[in-house]
Amino acid sequence: MTADRGLDRLLDRGVLPGYSAVGYRLRRRGWDPDDPRPGALVGRRALVTGAGGGLGEATALGLARLGATVHLVVRSEDRAAGAVERITETLRSEGRSAALEVEVCDVSDLGAVAGFARALADRLATTNDALDVVVHNAGVLPVERTTSVDGHELTVATHVLGPVLMTELLLPVLREAPGGARVVLVASGGMYAQPLPADDPEFTAGPYRGTVAYARSKRMQVELAPVLARRWAPEGVSVFAMHPGWADTPGVASSLPLFRALTRPVLRSPEAGADTAVWLAATRTVPRSGTFWHDRSSRPTSYRFGPEPTASEVESLWRWVLRALDLEGPGRHR
Ligand SMILES: NC(=O)c1ccc[n+]([C@@H]2O[C@H](COP(=O)([O-])OP(=O)(O)OC[C@H]3O[C@@H](n4cnc5c(N)ncnc54)[C@H](OP(=O)(O)O)[C@@H]3O)[C@@H](O)[C@H]2O)c1
Repeated sequence: MTADRGLDRLLDRGVLPGYSAVGYRLRRRGWDPDDPRPGALVGRRALVTGAGGGLGEATALGLARLGATVHLVVRSEDRAAGAVERITETLRSEGRSAALEVEVCDVSDLGAVAGFARALADRLATTNDALDVVVHNAGVLPVERTTSVDGHELTVATHVLGPVLMTELLLPVLREAPGGARVVLVASGGMYAQPLPADDPEFTAGPYRGTVAYARSKRMQVELAPVLARRWAPEGVSVFAMHPGWADTPGVASSLPLFRALTRPVLRSPEAGADTAVWLAATRTVPRSGTFWHDRSSRPTSYRFGPEPTASEVESLWRWVLRALDLEGPGRHR
């Protein structure tokens, strides 16, 4: 083990230093400044959900800086206007131009996701365009148990069901990506504290806590990544889960004000939080599909005394996802 690898592990196990701006600063000293290489995504097309601010905007900026045309998926066009302006201005100040397209879709609404993904796939197909990158970044931390328009608990609808369905319906254009498409699920280090709720994915039992529901749904993303990797491998699509550490974003300010007040001096910038998602999308050698990442290194999905799900629990959750999305047979979303 190199000294750098030892330091990296120490930061990771210590959580606070690893997830903060300090961890990012220390680790980046060992990174190749030419990876991703400038222009790595020229001629490529990427989609980022929840791109109207926070980490989503920073991810869109990072991808656009590498030359990608970026589709910013937002719930309302108003929300996108500021992000488009800021990204365009930043790139202009660097002597670059930005190719940005705004798309409206509520990713927790399965009907909206199906309509949006099918329309985008058709639109790109008519111009012979592929989709190279999808970053499922949209996230939510509700105070009370809330359900989506389809009746699903909101964190699982936003973080799991919507992203899986959107990717499935974008496969016709993802499979056309030269060199293979890459899909990134933005999870959270909070998932380490929660077991996989295989028998109650909708959080119907016990007192509801938004932070617990959030962490459970992020655990689902991480545990499903290898399942999705196997499913999408024949299409040439790789999938990764990553966690951004702790970044100062509008979401943290509104959902976790006390946490923010206590940690603000060491919170990362949104760009630092988004770095690994951008890197996974553009690094030269495609990393192994199905893996979990933080600060450009693959990470364990559970620690020694942490809750590790069994293969049958993961399988049971996956069956539930397939049923919820009507993906098992000739259903309405297929
Ligand atoms: N910041 C951190 O430290 C941190 C740590 C761990 C993980 N994460 C994860 O990183 C991602 C981004 O977080 P953030 O901190 O940047 O949060 P944020 O500032 O709250 O941004 C989240 C974005 O997701 C959008 N969104 C939420 N529900 C949506 C839906 N149903 N359809 C479409 N868009 C939706 C929001 O749009 P509106 O503007 O319409 O609400 C917002 O633009 C999330 O998945 C979060 O769980 C963040």
